Amino acid sequence: MVSNNHDLRLVAPFSPTIIKATMPPGVVERLNARIDEIVGRKDEVAARDWSAHLAGAVSTEIRFTDVIRETAELTDFLFDVARTYTYRCENALMHFSDYERTEELEAKKLRIEIKEGWINDMVAGDYNPAHFHQGCLYSSVGFLRVPPGYEAEFAADKARQNTAGCLQFIDSRSAVGAKNLFTVKPVVGDFYLWPSWMLHCVYPFRSPGVRRSMAINLALA
Ligand SMILES: [Fe+2]
Repeated sequence: MVSNNHDLRLVAPFSPTIIKATMPPGVVERLNARIDEIVGRKDEVAARDWSAHLAGAVSTEIRFTDVIRETAELTDFLFDVARTYTYRCENALMHFSDYERTEELEAKKLRIEIKEGWINDMVAGDYNPAHFHQGCLYSSVGFLRVPPGYEAEFAADKARQNTAGCLQFIDSRSAVGAKNLFTVKPVVGDFYLWPSWMLHCVYPFRSPGVRRSMAINLALA
């Protein structure tokens, strides 16, 4: 029997939290069109090459900060997610893990800064070893494209760990209610934001085609 008269309240002050959101479909479409235009031009790919700054064994890594900053619908979305994450995490500490309350902090218009953003176009065999992001407070990713055969490949991988093409977060501790590995399947439009120090990696896949993600580092200004 579950007790309901002892004022039982959990508090989770030490667990890093991750927020999930859905990008507006129009934004995903417009970003893909702009990125297709860029990757279709060798000179632009060379000018935007960001691979020297990144850990990945990834075919195409291009700096995209300028386009992100110019796309108002995207920056509005990013600011909303980062503000909500901050408000909810702070309120959860004050209200014993009630992550839904935001009223005390709603009035504070937190200023969010876009530090750096880039596009990862991965093909079969590409991967991203465990790493974290420096020079920012939050890191985030939005999934923009998956290979046409990816769903079938992921389903066939079920017997094993189900990690093909997945993003995986790594934390050293585990407890009842807390995992030390959290695996995220890429779904077009899905967006995740997390503390930038958190280790993460991306596993390779075999399907022909492109797995496209947009990574963005953010800070409180
Ligand atoms: Fe990363």
